[in-house]
Amino acid sequence: MTYETVRETDPAVADALTGERKRQNDTLAMIASENHVSEAVMEAQSSELTNNYAEGYPEGRYYGGCEYADDVESLAIERATELWGAEHVNVQPHSGSQANMAVFTAILEPGDTILSLDLTHGGHLSHGHPANAAGKLYDVEHYEVDEETGRLDYAGLDDLAHSTDPDVIISGFSAYPRTVDWEAIQETADAVDAYHLADIAHITGLVAAGEHPSPVGIVDFVTGSTHKTIRSGRGGIIMCSEEHADDIDSAVFPGIQGGPLMHNVAGKAVGFGEALDPEFEAYAAQVVENGEALGEALKANGLTLVSGGTDTHLVLVDLRPSHPDTTGKDVEAALEETGIVLNANTVPGETRSAFNPSGVRAGTPALTTRGFEAKEMREVGDLIADVIDAPDDSTVIEHVSARVDELTDANPLYE
Ligand SMILES: Cc1ncc(COP(=O)(O)O)c(C=O)c1O
Repeated sequence: MTYETVRETDPAVADALTGERKRQNDTLAMIASENHVSEAVMEAQSSELTNNYAEGYPEGRYYGGCEYADDVESLAIERATELWGAEHVNVQPHSGSQANMAVFTAILEPGDTILSLDLTHGGHLSHGHPANAAGKLYDVEHYEVDEETGRLDYAGLDDLAHSTDPDVIISGFSAYPRTVDWEAIQETADAVDAYHLADIAHITGLVAAGEHPSPVGIVDFVTGSTHKTIRSGRGGIIMCSEEHADDIDSAVFPGIQGGPLMHNVAGKAVGFGEALDPEFEAYAAQVVENGEALGEALKANGLTLVSGGTDTHLVLVDLRPSHPDTTGKDVEAALEETGIVLNANTVPGETRSAFNPSGVRAGTPALTTRGFEAKEMREVGDLIADVIDAPDDSTVIEHVSARVDELTDANPLYE
């Protein structure tokens, strides 16, 4: 995209847009929830569908002029159904958080109880944090990971479910590097007669490609983002059995949303189409292989990973054992100077604040899209470790920056 038309009418915004394209081209995006979509997805997202009001669902809209909106939404639904195999799919949530709120709206009454993973242990704000609407509307109980192993404590979750009698148990996480045992959590949900919502925001693409077991058909509701490990542009998705279809659809609209962002639904349709290509399976496998390579390199440099490694696209470094005086924010800032972009993150048993925590999270989806393989990921792991060892050393920062420039030049992104 050249933004020539925007430049003619609004140079200030054009500067920001071209600046962002250059930033993405010139840096290594390692925020685990980010990716780079194709030009085709971006074109669909900037289409005339942004002008269209399509309240309702295909063949049942509240306004006229929706024949092409119907085509696009039906294609997105068809392709999502093929990718994840759910009986019913709603592709209208504006984001993963909206998808979660729609499920809560469909199944909970104010004052009902949510049982979800604690934020500092890898959960998500939308799972009932006090600052989030869900935290204000519902009673919230949190389970944790085992601080020794960094792995989900399924027995502890089961005990807590029996003592708190939740209406819904949420599985699926923001900073959990390991495979989730959906069946084990479903057994608990069955035992306490609670719904089970699996929020696969981070791993939608891995699940679609068979790189992580699917919760579809096991749990009651599956939600996700459409822009993390699957490259279909910003948005959310909900999947469920036919039994809950009407409740979910009316919870999304008119429950919590008005007109769907049909241009984003078009992006989802295009991105889901791309994910149906066999090449996507190879991509997802590479994402996981790259996660392992990154983790191994970090460990070889003396860093401690929560849970000792990863089965997925992300690693979580606990800085406390190796670098007790360095915070996640120190590392995030020093790495950003070199062009490596990741985020500070809490770790299980966090002893600092959520704003300046003791860990950093790094992911491989975006670099894998750029063409990085295990060899490059191992080098990136070494570069990250060099900066963690010497965040204030300008010679190290310059050396790593120069290498980042070479790596980005060798793996170009957007023309
Ligand atoms: C587990 C989980 N759920 C929901 C979300 C929210 O997604 P969105 O930013 O699309 O609202 C995230 C975002 O990272 C997430 O990690």
